[in-house]
Amino acid sequence: MTFRFRSSNFAESRAEQPFWPTLLRFFPYLWARRGRVVAALLCLAGAKLATVGLPLALKVIIDDLAPSGQVLLLPIGLLLLYGLLRFAAALFTELREILFARVTQESIRRLALEVFRHLHALSLRFHLERQTGGISRDIERGAHAIGTLINYTLYSILPTLVEIVLVLAILIVRYDPVFALITFASLVVYIVFTLTVSNWRIQIRRRVNETDSAANAHAIDSLMNYETVKYFNNEDYEARRYDQHLRQWAEAATQSQVSLSFLNLGQQAIIVAGVTLIMWQAAKGVTEGVMSVGDLVLVNAFMMQLYMPLNFLGVVYREIRQSLADIERMFALLHARQEIVDDPGAIPLERRPQEIHFDDAHFAYDAKRPILRGVEFRIPAGHTVAVVGASGAGKSTLARLLFRFYDVTAGSIRFDGRDIRGFAQSSLRAAIGIVPQDTVLFNDTLFYNIQYGNPGASREEVLLAARAAQLDAFVARLPEGYETRVGERGLKLSGGEKQRVAIARALLKNPALLIFDEATSALDSRTEQAIQSQLEAVAQGRTTLVIAHRLSTIMNADEILVMEEGRIVERGKHSELLAKNGAYAQMWALQKTEDKEWESGAGNQ
Ligand SMILES: Nc1ncnc2c1ncn2[C@@H]1O[C@H](COP(=O)(O)OP(=O)(O)OP(=O)(O)O)[C@@H](O)[C@H]1O
Ligand SMILES: [Mg+2]
Repeated sequence: MTFRFRSSNFAESRAEQPFWPTLLRFFPYLWARRGRVVAALLCLAGAKLATVGLPLALKVIIDDLAPSGQVLLLPIGLLLLYGLLRFAAALFTELREILFARVTQESIRRLALEVFRHLHALSLRFHLERQTGGISRDIERGAHAIGTLINYTLYSILPTLVEIVLVLAILIVRYDPVFALITFASLVVYIVFTLTVSNWRIQIRRRVNETDSAANAHAIDSLMNYETVKYFNNEDYEARRYDQHLRQWAEAATQSQVSLSFLNLGQQAIIVAGVTLIMWQAAKGVTEGVMSVGDLVLVNAFMMQLYMPLNFLGVVYREIRQSLADIERMFALLHARQEIVDDPGAIPLERRPQEIHFDDAHFAYDAKRPILRGVEFRIPAGHTVAVVGASGAGKSTLARLLFRFYDVTAGSIRFDGRDIRGFAQSSLRAAIGIVPQDTVLFNDTLFYNIQYGNPGASREEVLLAARAAQLDAFVARLPEGYETRVGERGLKLSGGEKQRVAIARALLKNPALLIFDEATSALDSRTEQAIQSQLEAVAQGRTTLVIAHRLSTIMNADEILVMEEGRIVERGKHSELLAKNGAYAQMWALQKTEDKEWESGAGNQ
């Protein structure tokens, strides 16, 4: 009983999973390597033949040495054969392991890769709703379970089965059928007994774990509330409650031990009964003169050899069930439905500036809360449209819909008149470049992160993009320059630096359609102005959607849309909107005074 933080006994409670369906789904992965599997199985057979040959050789040796009146000769050949058989068994076993190692690792590799690809294919919604930690644990466990499953079935169960068949065959062919009968019957009883008791024990083991966790949880909770316990002088009360849990745990743990002893004793009783019966029959055979002493040793050796691996049957059974449950979870990930799938008739989106049309688009992340309520606007090919509005109005949602992370719930989004759902997703995403509102970087170098926009780009192109994004002055000050590592999620960079990396990589992607979602919000005014002209130059000739808070950055847009609660409430050019004296004009006035205050404040310092 130790203190451990443990969330739950997930592992045990998952043991209730369908057995065969999982196993069957797993076999295609083995089948892909059938050549090696067959070779490994041949080695397995070889090893087992050698093992079964051992008692046979032993019998001949003993019979040779049995006093029969003549001078005893050393059966050198037989002794050598005996040694050879022992070595052959080991050799074939190792060969099998070598042959199979690749199969196991390859299956794990292929499956893990498939799951990984699939996870990237799943929708944003899936990933927002799941804990990444939980998913990676499922993959890890699943991959590990495959190894366990292969190990136990192929290295433990299958060899034992092969051996049983061989031994039974020899017994039937060479001796009275009653030997085979006794062996077979006692094996069946043994296996049924073991599996039954093991199943029953799984419940007990689970209770041990549950009570253990409960006791732990209580102890930790109580200790973390140390002060409160003291304030109310409740040490005894806490101890009594802890003891309640401990009592339950002790009860369950005792039961577990008793049941284990019962299992062990029962197994031994069955073995002893079988062996005694066999020996009795053999001894009778010897006294009747139909069997030799060597035969007696042989049948005894066979029985012992058979039962040895079966000792672990209970453990093997439990492990296999656990592995199947883990694999099942991994497959469940694999079978998670893709929310956004390509139409069978989907065509690639051409990489040229096109007209984007939000045609009365409605959207909700959650059916109970509409986010977009009939958004209608067009960005003519090669033009720039800006969206402004309060936080939460649904601006970034427009960008997510353009990338087709989600589908509109009503209305449509059209590229040159064709519905977005008619294009292949990968071509769609290849055609659009975005500087997202929050930039997250890979835990790698600056260079890597910029080049990510186009992994095929040359070093010169990367540096050019970095310069356009005003990164070069900053990088020049870094001791390691572009080889500087940016830390987990890019946390070693300031917000403005991350944003410039995002701009550089969007430029490097050189897309026909551009989205800037608050692309310069984290920059100081001077850097913003420097980048602004670059961005406007880049936007020339591309269909561009700009989302911005600072209105001075979008003054030159061909059209400005003001969004409020999922609707466009005003639209027009900067000057028109100012003339209207509506929401936009208000925002503009507000920002003007803020800027003035900021300037005069800065001037005072
Ligand atoms: N995955 C999601 N699930 C549920 N609701 C979401 C999800 N993503 C965003 N929302 C909600 O949708 C609304 C619009 O979000 P959106 O990101 O489009 O706002 P925004 O206009 O870009 O705001 P901001 O100016 O703050 O960036 C918000 O109220 C937000 O809470
Ligand atoms: Mg946003």
